Amino acid sequence: MEVTAVPHNPAEARLTVTSPEQMRELGRRLAKLLRAGDLVMLTGELGAGKTTLTRGLGEGLGVRGAVTSPTFVIARVHPSLGDGPPLVHVDAYRLSGGLDEMEDLDLDVSLPDSVMVVEWGEGKVEELAEDRLRVVIHRAVGDTTDEVRQVTLTGLGQRWTDTDLETLEA
Ligand SMILES: Nc1ncnc2c1ncn2[C@@H]1O[C@H](COP(=O)(O)OP(=O)(O)O)[C@@H](O)[C@H]1O
Ligand SMILES: [Mg+2]
Repeated sequence: MEVTAVPHNPAEARLTVTSPEQMRELGRRLAKLLRAGDLVMLTGELGAGKTTLTRGLGEGLGVRGAVTSPTFVIARVHPSLGDGPPLVHVDAYRLSGGLDEMEDLDLDVSLPDSVMVVEWGEGKVEELAEDRLRVVIHRAVGDTTDEVRQVTLTGLGQRWTDTDLETLEA
């Protein structure tokens, strides 16, 4: 007898996050799914929580240095405190030239050996990796405390076909 697998799309998850601490926790959990060579693109308005999520990612990856808004630098490299991949945290807001400009930064790490997280990277750095995790953070409409965020994670490309992002929802 032939059994046809029902296709489902594990490479997407939608979560509601209700505090900055929960956003950090989401980052710590997401870090466990990441490996060297991964590109994570964070989208969301100013104050959405992109850097807060990245802080949790840095904690989960066990990297050196506090993750902060890279206001005066385009990219910051956080080396691993153990033997994991370094975190490359990029703020592409002031990056006008896209990929060429990224390469000019001379980051001193190899991207295939790093986990790269990019804020404001849409339309600028997609070329860095065909496979990527897209994270979109929205403020909830009508939220009176201003602490509720809707987070949608979408894994694009072969890399993400076997990763069940829905485990993040637990
Ligand atoms: N649920 C939440 N998730 C993340 N940040 C939140 C949340 N609720 C309130 N905040 C606050 O919003 C701000 C988010 O700032 P930041 O992470 O730097 O945003 P971005 O990098 O997207 O501009 C912080 O001051 C944080 O304390
Ligand atoms: Mg930021």
